[in-house]
Amino acid sequence: MAAMKLLAIETSCDETAAAVLGDDGNVLSNIVLSQDEVHAPYGGVVPELASRQHIKSIVYIVRESLDAAGAGLDGIDHFAVTQGPGLIGSLLVGLSFAKGLAYYQHKPLIGIDHVEAHIEAAFLENPDIAFPALALVVSGGHTSLYFMRERLSYEVLGRTRDDAAGEALDKIAKFLDLGYPGGPVIQRLAEPGDPSRFPFSVPRMSDRSLDFSFSGLKSAAIRTAREHKIAKGAAALADFLASFESAVVRALLDNLFAAAETCGPRSLLISGGVARNKRLRMEFERQSAARGYAAYIPSPKLCTDNAAMVGALAWARILAAPKSGRTPALDLELDAYPRQPI
Ligand code: KG4
Ligand code: ZN
Repeated sequence: MAAMKLLAIETSCDETAAAVLGDDGNVLSNIVLSQDEVHAPYGGVVPELASRQHIKSIVYIVRESLDAAGAGLDGIDHFAVTQGPGLIGSLLVGLSFAKGLAYYQHKPLIGIDHVEAHIEAAFLENPDIAFPALALVVSGGHTSLYFMRERLSYEVLGRTRDDAAGEALDKIAKFLDLGYPGGPVIQRLAEPGDPSRFPFSVPRMSDRSLDFSFSGLKSAAIRTAREHKIAKGAAALADFLASFESAVVRALLDNLFAAAETCGPRSLLISGGVARNKRLRMEFERQSAARGYAAYIPSPKLCTDNAAMVGALAWARILAAPKSGRTPALDLELDAYPRQPI
């Protein structure tokens, strides 16, 4: 029997992405078109522009992913698409497009959760991660901590009560007019800086919950920047950004390791766009090794939004179908959801 293929589509925010995966989970193509240039003048994603941009690009990105995989539409056996959470207009472009393809081809369509797909990026490169595992997803839209008792099971332990970690980085970059997206710009400008120059304190939840909060840290950073006249080109900019970046990293890791102490996982995972951050990657690996946890973080390309992670999770679901009793089908009622279900 010829190998089965799956086409995955991701349009939850400002990347138009499509990927083709073979049935052993191998990624045959992974095409991502970023809209950074469209949103850069505004210092953040403009939802209306994002959906219009997806409409313009999606057919070309899907075509390119099929061509790069050496596959035709007729050779696709399953379709997968991000259902949510994300920008509703953006999600609907990918969902409607995928529905149309699956309907035309009479093939199953699987709706995938974007945050769970980010976690799956770690399994794509390391299929043998030991359970139980703790997974932290840090991106522009999400900062959520999950306990995974086993494969495909996700129990929310904590999430941000205000800004996501990436959002805080993006907002500080916008405040200082440094460019968009803020995370990579801050990483670059912070590199020569001294992270101990501006000691930002990291928030602690008074109710001992494992939730995150970044708005206090963001306000403290803005206050400090005003007080010390930190601006683009200022001598203290690198020290300021290194201090802020390292406070964000501390806020994330302190909570992750606090959760690890109570849950006793065998593995720790970090994924999402902010997981590209060098300081976070280095500190995560250093502290995990010191405490004896197996640590996993996807390669940078798989951390930011992409469709390979969506396809990988869809395959994992298909393989688990005989056990879960959820046979993949073409569900034409499939709808998008903007927020994470509680
Ligand atoms: O996962 P992603 O592509 O989209 C969402 O699901 O939100 O993440 C985008 C976020 C942005 O906030 C961006 O500033 C951040 O990831 N980011 C980084 C780095 N690269 C991207 N943050 C810190 N350091 C980086 N190198
Ligand atoms: Zn994402």
